[in-house]
Amino acid sequence: MFKGKFVTIEGCEGVGKTTQVELLKQKFSGRDDVLFLREPGGTAISESIRRIILDVDNKEMCGTCEVLLYSAARAQLVEQVIKPALKNGMIVICDRFTDSTLAYQGYARGLGADMVETLSSIACSSLVPDVTIFLDLDPAAAFSRKGGADKSDRLEQAGEEFHRRVYRGYKLIAQKYPERVVSVPAGGSVEEVHFAVLAALEERGVK
Ligand SMILES: Nc1ncnc2c1ncn2[C@@H]1O[C@H](COP(=O)(O)OP(=O)(O)OP(=O)(O)O)[C@@H](O)[C@H]1O
Ligand SMILES: [Mg+2]
Repeated sequence: MFKGKFVTIEGCEGVGKTTQVELLKQKFSGRDDVLFLREPGGTAISESIRRIILDVDNKEMCGTCEVLLYSAARAQLVEQVIKPALKNGMIVICDRFTDSTLAYQGYARGLGADMVETLSSIACSSLVPDVTIFLDLDPAAAFSRKGGADKSDRLEQAGEEFHRRVYRGYKLIAQKYPERVVSVPAGGSVEEVHFAVLAALEERGVK
């Protein structure tokens, strides 16, 4: 459908998504055909929505409100930034995308995978990543890397059982979409994970 390649980086809190994206930025530095984005965010409107979602004062936010806000932020990012870039043949690398909503809201918050997948397809008008790198690490191990959950982040404060459900959700997504999702073991050193990510991307023509 598009000339470019759309890559998403997924996984539980603290598994090293942003660390790996930073290494990919270094790897692709100087290239003007590679665009890096983070979700929720990436446009002025989407960044404003991100602040509402993550605000610890918004404790009363219900699950449906949360999933609609994510979808709204995503719709703007897809239309304003991702689709134009892919049309121009760029590689777009996004730190979190629809699978985060599916794992967190669909599976862990219990809103249901069908509802979340329907909303995602509306928000993306059927845009699907070409490759999704799932950094696979148990949430307890990932949190201990960060020295515990971030007190200023409402979702990180959601508790251990919630994050275990997120992890199980990601595992189900990887099983359901094997042609798109590559599971990369994320328990090794930063460099080991980086080389595994690069190998997975090269294998799928992202280089
Ligand atoms: N392979 C690794 N081994 C050890 N520590 C790591 C590794 N990868 C990342 N870290 C460290 O773990 C912490 C979390 O990493 P990072 O912020 O990249 O995770 P994240 O998946 O982006 O988290 P979040 O979901 O909160 O955005 C950081 O302190 C980072 O330096
Ligand atoms: Mg991050």
